[in-house]
Amino acid sequence: MAYRPLTAIVLAAGEGTRMKSSTAKVLHPICGRPMLLHVLDALAELPLERIVVVVGHDAEQVTETVKGNFVSKISVEFVRQEFQRGTGDAVSAGLAVFSDSTDVDGDVLVLAGDTPLLHPETMAVLATEHRLNESAATLLTVEVPDPTGYGRIVRDERGEVIAIVEQADANATQLALSEINTSIYCFRQSYLSPAIRRLSPDNAKGECYLTDAIAVIRSAGHSILTVSVADASEVIGVNDRAQLSVAEALLRERINSFWMRSGVTMVDPARTYIDTSVVIEPEVTLLPGVILEGNTKIGSRSTVGPDCRLVDTVVGSEVVISQTVAREVEIENNATVGPWASLRPGTRVGKSAHIGTFVEIKNSDIGEEAKVPHLAYIGDTDIGPRANIGAGTITANYDGREKHRTQIGQDAKLGSNTVLVAPVTVGDGAYTAAGAAVVDDVPPGALAKGVPAEIEKDWVKKNRPSRDSKGKS
Ligand code: UD1
Ligand code: CA
Repeated sequence: MAYRPLTAIVLAAGEGTRMKSSTAKVLHPICGRPMLLHVLDALAELPLERIVVVVGHDAEQVTETVKGNFVSKISVEFVRQEFQRGTGDAVSAGLAVFSDSTDVDGDVLVLAGDTPLLHPETMAVLATEHRLNESAATLLTVEVPDPTGYGRIVRDERGEVIAIVEQADANATQLALSEINTSIYCFRQSYLSPAIRRLSPDNAKGECYLTDAIAVIRSAGHSILTVSVADASEVIGVNDRAQLSVAEALLRERINSFWMRSGVTMVDPARTYIDTSVVIEPEVTLLPGVILEGNTKIGSRSTVGPDCRLVDTVVGSEVVISQTVAREVEIENNATVGPWASLRPGTRVGKSAHIGTFVEIKNSDIGEEAKVPHLAYIGDTDIGPRANIGAGTITANYDGREKHRTQIGQDAKLGSNTVLVAPVTVGDGAYTAAGAAVVDDVPPGALAKGVPAEIEKDWVKKNRPSRDSKGKS
């Protein structure tokens, strides 16, 4: 078999009207990763010379998203389809990059950016069959119980493919056909280019259909090869948000079974949601209602859940987290968090620290073995090792204009309902009494007690001149 370069054209210029969205369809995420990226990830596994992405609707954003998130040795080029006149017109735009005369006749995989569950192995089989049979055009097809919406594969009495007919253009007999076009093809480039030039928008949608290229190639005397895919769920096309949720559920199943086979326990995989980018070490237990997003990592033997949402959060080993929302947080080994904690960006929970119930922490560092067990707000604060923060403690970090930091030394013990008016420091080993409102720094080993609620007349007038007596600006 003569060597021919293999390239891919990915169609991603359509608006995706059926999504009813201001975001381009191919950028809608599935398990945290834009749909188009899933298609490109699969292509990255193939021995391709180049990938051409046809962009149009939201072209800049689609291009930027691919450039920023797709890592591969294969060179990726972007071609604009100015007006979305159909899939055939999109391929025509894509083929423009091959026009230089130095290009030898190659094989071109053509696929849509809206079939995110496609396996690279399936495309490899498609390309191999295409080449072994010296085929002009090879289609990936599948038999489905409900072919509604898909193009139907029309065969003659000898079983040879003669055309693809779109749903909107099909007659009753054709509508009853259950073998559908997956929109995944392999073409000999020298047959595809002339066929595309002969397409016309003479159909129900007034578009140039790529699917019509099949009848054109066939009538030029070439037989059309088909490769069938066993599992129809692999080639599901996402046109609307109902199909988006079906694709998401199928991918979730794949991701979850991968992690379970890697040693992660999921009590209820149907209620466990893990983005493609998440990393989980063995012996982790995920209880129902866990959502792990972005660059979240979970260390070995940790237990997460029930009902936790962790976004870009790094969790160490043997950590226990329940009923918690955390975003951009680091939780170190053996720490315990929750139930019902809210951990916001910039928070680090040190080794063996304990964050308890109804606690909110933002942009703070919680030292080793420190405890914030109940009903607290900790913002812009550094808490030293082994310090104990009493129930109801509040760091008053905002004076209405600026945020200030609070420092709490190691082994400090704060009484219930302490208010720390930042900027303020509580020294190592210092105590505060229940209800203390701490305005001045507390030296190491000292006790702060009492509430200095003195009245200062006309404070607002002097300090917030832009506000009137009702507090409005
Ligand atoms: C297409 C096929 C149909 C097949 C189905 C499989 C055609 C005419 N029909 O239908 O036979 O069963 O996929 O999922 O090809 N696009 C462009 N430019 C355009 C139009 C579309 O780049 O002018 C892109 C879209 O962004 C999308 C892909 O092509 O990624 C497919 O277009 P779509 O409108 O989704 O086609 P279907 O109606 O699903
Ligand atoms: Ca589609």
